[in-house]
Amino acid sequence: MDLPKIFVKSTVPFTPWIYSTSVENGHEEDSAEVLVERKDGEVFGTAMVTGSDKLRYRIHTPFSEQRLSDIWKDRVIQNLELNKKLVKGDAFRAVFSEASWLPGLVIDVYGPYVVVELTVKWWEKFEKDIVDLLMNEGYSGVYVRRFMELTGQEVYGEIEPVVVEQYGVKFKVDILNSQKTGLFLDQRMNRIVAARLSKSLFGEGFTCLDVFSNTGGFGLYMLKEGAKHVTFVDSVKRVLEAARENVELNGFGLEKCSFEKINVVRSAEKLSQKSYDVVVLDPPAFAKKRGDLEAAKKAYLRVNIEGMKRVKRGGLLVTCSCSGVLSRFEFRKLISKALRKARRIGNILYEGRADMDHPSNPYIPETDYLKCLILRIF
Ligand SMILES: C[S@@+](CC[C@H](N)C(=O)[O-])C[C@H]1O[C@@H](n2cnc3c(N)ncnc32)[C@H](O)[C@@H]1O
Repeated sequence: MDLPKIFVKSTVPFTPWIYSTSVENGHEEDSAEVLVERKDGEVFGTAMVTGSDKLRYRIHTPFSEQRLSDIWKDRVIQNLELNKKLVKGDAFRAVFSEASWLPGLVIDVYGPYVVVELTVKWWEKFEKDIVDLLMNEGYSGVYVRRFMELTGQEVYGEIEPVVVEQYGVKFKVDILNSQKTGLFLDQRMNRIVAARLSKSLFGEGFTCLDVFSNTGGFGLYMLKEGAKHVTFVDSVKRVLEAARENVELNGFGLEKCSFEKINVVRSAEKLSQKSYDVVVLDPPAFAKKRGDLEAAKKAYLRVNIEGMKRVKRGGLLVTCSCSGVLSRFEFRKLISKALRKARRIGNILYEGRADMDHPSNPYIPETDYLKCLILRIF
């Protein structure tokens, strides 16, 4: 049977994200598949109809009439096999939504377990098939989390806390009680670059303030590379306890660490007034949508000014943003404004992005979401 056709207005350039305001005729049935064409006859591709009134059609197969219901299993396995090769270690992202051309589906692997996130209703009818596919691949537990158009979670098989290793650092991951799927896997390479650079510049015995530390990501690599002291800061007690456990798990020495529970957005002045060789700022996404952007820029600015003030002259600032709607250019502009306000001079030594198992989709700038700048500050 032919797919229903959606016609996009002739002024709209190719994009996999089709908003309801861009189409001339709509398709009302949520979770169906449609063929998207422009009025001039250019085939955009096959799309799923989402439950959203705004971002109504998400193209999964460009320039083609192929149905995702026929090919999603192959695509999941191809992505899983590829991403396994892209990064070292037993924890990685196997499927990343639009970047894997599987909109609304995220799959992360932690050793024997898998976390599946479903954010588009289209996937609801395939939930059981996804779980079976992963169990057949040899994973012993699958945790499904449903968001946005879907709700709830389900554990299939058994899931226990698990220890995974990434480039010489062990992390205990409590999948069922985690903020994300388990770890912020996307920062893997930026942590290593930041820690190695710190060692190259300062030798062993440098100090680090790891703000928004979560379970210790950046600070743990700093300890591995010879930091003499790391202060981990987060607003959530549970993740600081996990960071402490991770320090012990790796044998890095608790005497080299302190753990401070501070709401840095509300009371950044509560951060210690000391100066550090390295300050890391890795806040949560302050802007989840365009409408949040102005307030988010103010929060990034405030936090960065406070962070910069605490970097020793000649020290490093590692500053990140995972807000997809804040572009790289805007983030750089914001950092230069923060430098001016903090009356400091800085050079950008490195600009990082999400690691390779978190690719971006070149047609959707928002999917290039993670920015990580490392600056030398005087
Ligand atoms: C992007 S994660 C950091 C990931 C971490 N750097 C890593 O490498 O794994 C953001 C962290 O900010 C923390 N957070 C959120 N709001 C905060 C606030 N107002 N003050 C301090 N920490 C906050 C969250 O608990 C979370 O752990």
